[in-house]
Amino acid sequence: MKKIEEYVRSIPDFPEEGIIFRDVTSILQDADGLHLAIDELQKTLEGLDFDVVVGPESRGFIFGVPIAYNLHKAFVPVRKKGKLPCETVELEYDLEYGSAVIEMHKDAVRPGQRVVIIDDLIATGGTIEAIIKLVEQLGGEVVKISFLMELAGLNGREKLKGYNVESVICYE
Ligand code: PRP
Ligand code: ADE
Repeated sequence: MKKIEEYVRSIPDFPEEGIIFRDVTSILQDADGLHLAIDELQKTLEGLDFDVVVGPESRGFIFGVPIAYNLHKAFVPVRKKGKLPCETVELEYDLEYGSAVIEMHKDAVRPGQRVVIIDDLIATGGTIEAIIKLVEQLGGEVVKISFLMELAGLNGREKLKGYNVESVICYE
């Protein structure tokens, strides 16, 4: 059986010079790769008591929804600004290439709910740091943050100090 690492295609200088892009589509387009990725990511939540999976647009949806479904939990999408129809909380943040504004519906997480955040990848940690702030603003407790891939050289974990963080595979 192949390892997750063997499904990841790495593209130099995309979307900008100097960036090595770790492409998740090469995992998804292989049935075994997709199964392995979901299963390995889901294993990081074994034995954990929680209520809600939160995942950022768009790659966080790909992994967050099947795991929430498998474990019979709710899924809350975090979207780029302007996409959610009801009252939202929002935050601007920086990522490896550029910046963005993300939003969550105000009623998506209720005070006291135990929240797991799932994404395909952590680079600078800017996205997840912003999501943590929004979840906490709504009164949720972030009990775990799981990634399929971690780009350790960008020190994203520094921004997530004090939280329970786990990644399935790690690039230096
Ligand atoms: C990518 C990736 C993570 C984030 C990681 O999403 O899926 O969410 O960047 O970067 P960071 O750790 O520096 O914040 P992106 O915003 O590019 O959106 P996409 O999933 O729609 O491609
Ligand atoms: N998102 C932010 N940085 C990335 C990278 N190097 N590869 C894939 N997705 C990313």
